[in-house]
Amino acid sequence: MKRNITPLIIGNWKMNPQTIEKAEALFADIKKSTKKDTAVEIVVAAPFVFIAALQRASKNSRIKLAAQNVFKEPLGAYTGEISIPMLKSLGATHVILGHSERRALGESNEKIHESILAVLKSGLTAVVCVGEKARDAQGDYFSFVEAQIKSAIASIPNSHLSRLVIAYEPIWAIGTSKHATAEDVQEMKLFIQKNIADHFGRSAVPKVRILYGGSVNTDNAKELLETGRPDGFLVGGASLKASEFAEIIHISTAYGKV
Ligand code: PGA
Repeated sequence: MKRNITPLIIGNWKMNPQTIEKAEALFADIKKSTKKDTAVEIVVAAPFVFIAALQRASKNSRIKLAAQNVFKEPLGAYTGEISIPMLKSLGATHVILGHSERRALGESNEKIHESILAVLKSGLTAVVCVGEKARDAQGDYFSFVEAQIKSAIASIPNSHLSRLVIAYEPIWAIGTSKHATAEDVQEMKLFIQKNIADHFGRSAVPKVRILYGGSVNTDNAKELLETGRPDGFLVGGASLKASEFAEIIHISTAYGKV
């Protein structure tokens, strides 16, 4: 069923592929196979070191580029970090923040919140990942996700909300082939929207896009979109195979604006 949205499909390449040649080849294949998918917003989140080359490769294409993390300060003595102005100068438009694999390396809600504010202030789009490690019968995982959301959205100016994307990515579903059910996705989307409404008022709800991520593939994308009704997907493993990623994008086309 068509909805009044432009589905947002983001491929999170994580620390893949191993060489610039492979990254360029994968990007070229994605570009070629998604030429006609004009009803979908397509984003590739590549490792930092590939973004410059992909910017050149993305000329004359609608594919946008994302980073998988960023440091909040614009420049200075921060060995090993990458800043928002650097990303902007390479043409990146989106930044993934708070991915569970980064949280597992020690990123706190506070640090993620600071990065969200810096990214939104800069004019880029922040894709903030939230999600529980495991589900319990009492539903305590809702409080866990709520704490992540509350921390993420605290003190964000209302005027920046259209550049805030929340990706619900339950950790148990990432890279496991065990995706959340469409009902789980719909329930969590409503829960996230309730948190947004409580904080910013009901009129803010349509501004913030909510994605699902966690073992999305060509077999489950249709059902997840149809019943779960996320505004798109954050795709990991399946985004490393151009044909699979393109197929997920083709499927999503059916759910976008006419
Ligand atoms: P997956 O990863 O699609 O391989 O489960 C999703 C993600 O971590 O963003």
